[in-house]
Amino acid sequence: MCGIVGVVGKPAKELILNGLRNLEYRGYDSAGMYLNDLAGHEYLTKAVGRIKNLEEKLTPDEQGLVGIGHTRWATHGKPTVDNAHPHFDETKRFFLVHNGVLENYLDLKAKYLADTTFKSDTDTEVAVQLVAKFVYTEHLDTFTAFKKVLKLIRGSYAFLLVDNTEPDHIFLAKNKSPMMLGLGDGFNIVASDAISVLDQTRKFIDLNDGDVADVTKDSYHIENAAGEVVHPAAHIVDIDPSAASKGTYEFYMLKEIDEQPAVIRRLSSAYLDENGQPKFDQKLVAAISKADRLYIFGAGTSYHAGFVGKEYFEKLTGIPTEVDYSSEAGYHFPMLSKHPFFIFLTQSGETADSRVVLQEARKRNIPALTLTNVQGSTLSREANYTILLKAGPEIAVASTKAYTAQLAVQLELAKAIGCYLKQEVAIKFDLKKQLALAAEGMQRIIDGKAQLETLAKADLVHSRNAFYIGRGLDYAVALEGALKLKEVSYIQTEGFAAAELKHGTISLIEQGTPVIALINDPVTAGLTRGNIREVESRGAKVISIVGSEFAVDHDDIVLPATDYLVSPFLTVVPTQLLAYYASKNKGLDVDKPRNLAKSVTVE
Ligand code: G6P
Repeated sequence: MCGIVGVVGKPAKELILNGLRNLEYRGYDSAGMYLNDLAGHEYLTKAVGRIKNLEEKLTPDEQGLVGIGHTRWATHGKPTVDNAHPHFDETKRFFLVHNGVLENYLDLKAKYLADTTFKSDTDTEVAVQLVAKFVYTEHLDTFTAFKKVLKLIRGSYAFLLVDNTEPDHIFLAKNKSPMMLGLGDGFNIVASDAISVLDQTRKFIDLNDGDVADVTKDSYHIENAAGEVVHPAAHIVDIDPSAASKGTYEFYMLKEIDEQPAVIRRLSSAYLDENGQPKFDQKLVAAISKADRLYIFGAGTSYHAGFVGKEYFEKLTGIPTEVDYSSEAGYHFPMLSKHPFFIFLTQSGETADSRVVLQEARKRNIPALTLTNVQGSTLSREANYTILLKAGPEIAVASTKAYTAQLAVQLELAKAIGCYLKQEVAIKFDLKKQLALAAEGMQRIIDGKAQLETLAKADLVHSRNAFYIGRGLDYAVALEGALKLKEVSYIQTEGFAAAELKHGTISLIEQGTPVIALINDPVTAGLTRGNIREVESRGAKVISIVGSEFAVDHDDIVLPATDYLVSPFLTVVPTQLLAYYASKNKGLDVDKPRNLAKSVTVE
């Protein structure tokens, strides 16, 4: 959500455009750039829509040795050119880009900027006008004025600021929004994530909340929230840049769906030893084993992965487990047991809603683990423990391989805790074999993807709405399948516990309404068949996705046999492919659905 790239000491235009393209996955609806050539020329360009619109507006002469660029995901004010970043003060001396939300911008505007003429409806513009105000009225230097503004602001931000009277400096600040400082030879870069500028450098400094810095091409001066000068160590980011490229695929989403069997195999060797025993930090396993209740928090797809995790933890460890939306728990904290343990599921590690819960947990000394795909991400740094999902960069907004990675890691962790607690069901569960079967089964479904495209074209593309139904773990997957379909195809889709439809929602079933039924639960398979008949009698077009042991002749997709606990790894793949093909065949931008952002850094 919003992407930022800034560079000082190197031709900036192409570098920033490339960086912004790499940050497109975060979601945006307009883009802009400020360039300064350090020879008295500066260029401010903004465009609504895609980065190519910005690129088309930039003439070949518009170049810079310093620049700041931004992709904006609108919060305050519509996606217009005026609201796009960079914003500037009345005198056009200061230029600023921002990722985050300034909660008290109206108060600041009323108190300090009553006479100022504003060009945009954004919260951000207040920050840059305020820097100018303090520079001019209090005769502060820019860095000091910037720090004064930061002290007044309440909210989240990653800021880059340029003063055109000393344009060889970029001033930056970070609080709750992601930002990294990349170190180059004779240049320095600032970006929302490392992947976006990996072609320029691999050496990065993680910035902490409250940090503010003055960066030139060959120096950086960082102060922490307490105003002390700090010298954080740089680290090398070890990601293969090609892992973030689309290769021959038309869309990242399909590439990432296809990568899932490899991710599961990778997680099997990463977290299981040659005897199939989980190998996690023993301190972590002991800490969770002491808990009398586990609390899983997440948003979107990660929240749905939590429902599968609940089943794993309860079945294999015997510890009761709750799942909650982070956004709800943050301000309506769950009633806690005596010895709670918190587990955060977050692909990006940056979701603001989840971070609120983690901060509350820290205040109350509740031990917390983050399962994330991004090393060094905020929720990873702030939790007591982290386990990496090792899914490789996930670029499509709709999460696929991070979901199945979350299932695998939760299952491995549940087995580790269950074994530690000497739970017989965990000891007997042959996880290595089950994960191998899951990877093999997923591959078979992927190999047969053409059939899912046929089904999507025939039954979904022209539908206004659709339903997913299932029981037990199938219900958890139904929620995720429904989210996937609606987010990328814009077909209104809901996931239901199969029996619940008849308690109200069945009134929406009309001739041809698609109902996608999932059956893998041995206990309730027969009952779900009954629910299928109920909707079919009312005209529904049923697509059945069924484990081989429960299959009948006319089922649409028959899944390779697996243990019930592992069945979600397989069931979810056809749901992802149906969503992908529905979106693609509607001619939509599969990887960047409208209004959505991948990394949601506002509450
Ligand atoms: C956004 C994304 C979803 C994602 C959710 C949680 O809404 O569009 O795909 O599931 O955030 O993100 P997280 O990074 O915390 O898993």
